[in-house]
Amino acid sequence: MEASKLSDNKIKKIGVFTSGGDSPGMNAAIRAVVRAAKHYDLEIIGFLNGYDGLVQNEYKVLNTRTVAHILQQGGTFLKSARSKAFRSAEGRQKAFENLKALKVDALIAIGGDGTLTGLRVFQQEFGIPGIGIPGTIDNDLYGTDSTLGFDTAVNTVVDCIDKIRDTANSHDRLFFIEVMGRDSGFIALNSAVASGAFAVMLPETDISLESLISLLHRNRIKGKQSSIVIVAEGNINGNASEIAKALEEKHPDYACRVTILGHLQRGGKPNYFDRLLAAKFGVKAVEALIEGNTNCMVGIQKNEMILVPIEKAIKVHPDIDRELLRISSILSE
Ligand code: F6P
Repeated sequence: MEASKLSDNKIKKIGVFTSGGDSPGMNAAIRAVVRAAKHYDLEIIGFLNGYDGLVQNEYKVLNTRTVAHILQQGGTFLKSARSKAFRSAEGRQKAFENLKALKVDALIAIGGDGTLTGLRVFQQEFGIPGIGIPGTIDNDLYGTDSTLGFDTAVNTVVDCIDKIRDTANSHDRLFFIEVMGRDSGFIALNSAVASGAFAVMLPETDISLESLISLLHRNRIKGKQSSIVIVAEGNINGNASEIAKALEEKHPDYACRVTILGHLQRGGKPNYFDRLLAAKFGVKAVEALIEGNTNCMVGIQKNEMILVPIEKAIKVHPDIDRELLRISSILSE
């Protein structure tokens, strides 16, 4: 960073926290934030349990020692929550008083859209500079090619699908595997292509039961005995259990099974990609604050670090990769 920007810096103490659903790489991001802050001689404290920690004044003083050996661990050692208290004006006022008393000049929030929304509201109400780090397995924030934890989560899902495929093949069964992603289909689409799934049902596309049935029939004629269908939890035509039930009602001859992968997708060690992303996001977030930025999310686009206004990051719904969708339909024919 340029020396002039550093000498203009007014920030002396940063508060960092993780909020919302955890994602692999959050610990690595906290570590990167702490080490970058120390590099620039800033003090840093970590609030516990997301925004609840700000409201309840629960925090830990952080230094390079307190974040030793956490880089490779899943989850978040600062804990995470979706805070009810922070949604009220009184809660946010309390949080502001606590930050003032602690002389915290700026915040770095690691989390998804709810976390960034909270940061934006707080910044607008009290003017405390804030930078967001996109930490969610859903990859549903606009302006970054990848959110922290998404890559690891997709790897976890692919590993699970491979295992399910073994048993699906042994028993000639049709499996519906439901994956997370809230109202986005990134995990579903990427894992479907990477595991060679027969079909993928997403919030962004509209595959009806009828068209799924005709695809299945066609495959049966071709001699395919077992199949995997990936269903995003936000699929517009129903979740995995609903689709499987509707299919069995019409065609009891299909031996259907449903697996809901659930929260195992959020756990586990961050992979190499997410560790690197955490390092880049953490340093960028601290430097962005020192350079006088606020109300932005750090992002990565074509391997370049950028800042995206939080408003844009949360309000624009990123679209799935349409080219990958086309590839998926060609490969599953
Ligand atoms: O946003 C991450 C996520 O795992 C979503 O994919 C999922 O819909 C949701 O969180 C589950 O939330 P909870 O942990 O509160 O059940």
